[in-house]
Amino acid sequence: MTMLSGPVRPAETGATRDLAGDFAQRVAERTLRVGIVGLGYTGLPLALGFAGAGFAVTGCDLDPRKVTAVNRGESYLPDLTDLELQDVAEKLTATTEHIGLREADVLILCVPTPVTADGGADLSYVHGAVDSVLPLLRPGMLLVLQSTVPVGTTAEIARTIAERTELVPGESLFVAMAPERVDPANTNGWTLANTAKLVGGIGAESTARAELLFGQVCRSVHPVSSPDVAELSKVYENTFRLVNIALALEFSDLCGKLGLRAREVIDAAATKPFGFLAHYPGPGVGGECIPVDPLFLIERAELEGTPLELVATAQRRVAGRPGQVVDRIEELLAERDAKLAGAKVLVVGVSYKPGVSDLRNAPALDIIQLLREAGAEVAYHDPMVPQLTVDGHQVASVEWADARLADYDCVVLVTPHGRIAADPVWAEAELVLDTRGDLAPAGNVVVL
Ligand SMILES: NC(=O)c1ccc[n+]([C@@H]2O[C@H](COP(=O)([O-])OP(=O)(O)OC[C@H]3O[C@@H](n4cnc5c(N)ncnc54)[C@H](O)[C@@H]3O)[C@@H](O)[C@H]2O)c1
Repeated sequence: MTMLSGPVRPAETGATRDLAGDFAQRVAERTLRVGIVGLGYTGLPLALGFAGAGFAVTGCDLDPRKVTAVNRGESYLPDLTDLELQDVAEKLTATTEHIGLREADVLILCVPTPVTADGGADLSYVHGAVDSVLPLLRPGMLLVLQSTVPVGTTAEIARTIAERTELVPGESLFVAMAPERVDPANTNGWTLANTAKLVGGIGAESTARAELLFGQVCRSVHPVSSPDVAELSKVYENTFRLVNIALALEFSDLCGKLGLRAREVIDAAATKPFGFLAHYPGPGVGGECIPVDPLFLIERAELEGTPLELVATAQRRVAGRPGQVVDRIEELLAERDAKLAGAKVLVVGVSYKPGVSDLRNAPALDIIQLLREAGAEVAYHDPMVPQLTVDGHQVASVEWADARLADYDCVVLVTPHGRIAADPVWAEAELVLDTRGDLAPAGNVVVL
């Protein structure tokens, strides 16, 4: 592992000395040109990282709004300010055309990898990106896949390149996997620079080049023996989280029956300084990673004839959580001789986690859908999501200051942005369902 302390700076690694050609020199001199395909939650911070380190970076995205925003120095991500983009304006340009990447010496693919309707990996964006950059590949270039993918994907891309071009991956073209670990809106100070980066290449030279490259923007780079290892490590990380979240959900249900607050018990367990990593219950999981990546593993394990029953159970347990939230609201209303049909419910926080506006796989969307199917009248509040499309209609977020919590039969806390959980106004509500255990204990608050 390459470990640097202090600010990220040009790495002096063993790899620097061993590299063939002028790659290392161009890295050191900052004449190497970096192309990033996909300027989303993962691609834009990376583009900024390389531009900030002094490299000329061109980012390509199919979404013209993102490209225009980058070129205007306007951030659309929670962790990046306009000023940060403007500071690197001379080094960072964006385009909607892949041909705009023709000068790049390194291409890094940061495109989405969702799941299909039947739960399989949807690699169409990865394949689309590879198709688009294929005509731009030339000897000596480094192509890096950063998207989270099923094991074997990078090797398959290398085979495609070998079949469709004259290039030989690992010899005349360098191909590596470097999975992204960014955590948007992380509140514990983990960034691109201080989160260790895994790299695994097709052949030693691909790995060495990727290690050297990422050493310019990450303080710690950990090379592994193959792209397969890098791919599988990333998926395993998120599977570990899914399984532990499922455990936290089951555990919190038991705590509820015992009249104890799961959060207090988990926090107590977390005082053990080793062998325990706290995971907390909530309304379910969202985003591009935890609900998605374990499915890649489940799919592959079934193909291999070694089904991952624990992971599959955890996945079902977590996916069923929004339904459990709605069942609990119905139960609580019934205890008050009220019905869910016709009840007024306010959902507080709809993005998939605090501090972001990202709605991908957000549990709140399922909760709203299920509440509406049960006949409830649903409103929502989310300062980061001013508008939401519900059943084809645009619905506006209720302003918190005007929310009048007493007007609702139930207020459900799903995603607490900022300091909303500490607002004394919760006391005005008749009934609050706290899906995370974030609110102070009170007579009107029920923890899921
Ligand atoms: N968001 C996260 O927190 C996170 C964390 C770690 C890993 N990942 C992984 O990183 C990958 C990317 O995720 P993301 O959150 O950055 O996605 P995103 O949707 O925010 O960004 C992807 C971007 O790629 C663009 N795009 C798609 N196909 C393209 C093409 N052919 N050419 C150019 N642009 C193209 C899209 O328009 C989009 O802007 C996924 O595999 C995801 O699982 C995401």
